[in-house]
Amino acid sequence: MFLMIFTFSCASRLNTGNRPIDKMLRKLQQKWKVNGRKLLFILFIFATGGSLTGYISKKILSAFQIENGWLWTFVYILIMTILWPMIILLVSIPFGQFPFFLSYIRKMGARLHLIKTNKRTLQEIRIAIFASGAGSNAQKIIDHFRSHAYIRVSLIACNKPGAGVLNIASRENIPVQLIEKEKFFKGNAYSDELMAAGIDFIVLAGFLWKIPTSLIKAFPKKIINIHPALLPGYGGKGMYGQKVHEAVIANHEKESGITIHYVDEIYDHGTIIFQDKCPVSPTDTAETLAKKIHGLEYKNFPLVIEQLLSK
Ligand code: GAR
Repeated sequence: MFLMIFTFSCASRLNTGNRPIDKMLRKLQQKWKVNGRKLLFILFIFATGGSLTGYISKKILSAFQIENGWLWTFVYILIMTILWPMIILLVSIPFGQFPFFLSYIRKMGARLHLIKTNKRTLQEIRIAIFASGAGSNAQKIIDHFRSHAYIRVSLIACNKPGAGVLNIASRENIPVQLIEKEKFFKGNAYSDELMAAGIDFIVLAGFLWKIPTSLIKAFPKKIINIHPALLPGYGGKGMYGQKVHEAVIANHEKESGITIHYVDEIYDHGTIIFQDKCPVSPTDTAETLAKKIHGLEYKNFPLVIEQLLSK
């Protein structure tokens, strides 16, 4: 009961408190990528599981009449080591936290070289897709990672109520974070919410707002964008979607293409990761060129993301 009240009081101050313990809990929340409620359960399970293990170990020792001394300490530690993972897993079941503790214990076992695991399968990589429009790229990315071993599309962030990408999210059962201007540009740019959702990587797929510095700092080298032209040409503020293709055609360009790049503080500017080209014919319109560009995007974007996250 005491443990429950203590953990609950800690978790209730999680987002606001400034005591060292509040800061430590926020760090744990980010490390484990869990929300406040889940953190409360996890701490409670650790505390309860630990106390139960200690209690049962002492009972076993007294049943075998092992008295205090070096043998007692040795056997006590041995029993604790064997019992603790089993008891923690058992206690976690009624709280719905079995998957978390199973992966936690597997990670510990792997670190101590007690069990062999593929390093990659230990940690899921969670992607948030930011989109403002139809979301056809978002759909291709979701399809690509649907059965992936460790990469998940875990969140769709959208700044436009009614955008097509929101229908995709609801059809695919993917949680949505609606982005409001005030909070995005003047607040924390949703970095706390993204951390709490356990997001590791952000993919801009037709997201038309500039990314605020606070979000870039919270996810360094972890935000990429796709642009429907060969940067550094045809980029910058106001250059998006059809407008890019209209400008390419108006300038009688012989070729266009796509650019995938890291996001920095300047529009369409960060380090280029990948480019692919297509010819522009004299008969092309903005619509026919958009089709060619979308073809390049669908073919390459999911693969480039996978390559980046498999390094
Ligand atoms: C894509 O072509 C993407 O390259 C472009 O918006 C389109 C979104 O289409 N992004 C930009 O112009 C960013 N400057 P979708 O919603 O069907 O994926």
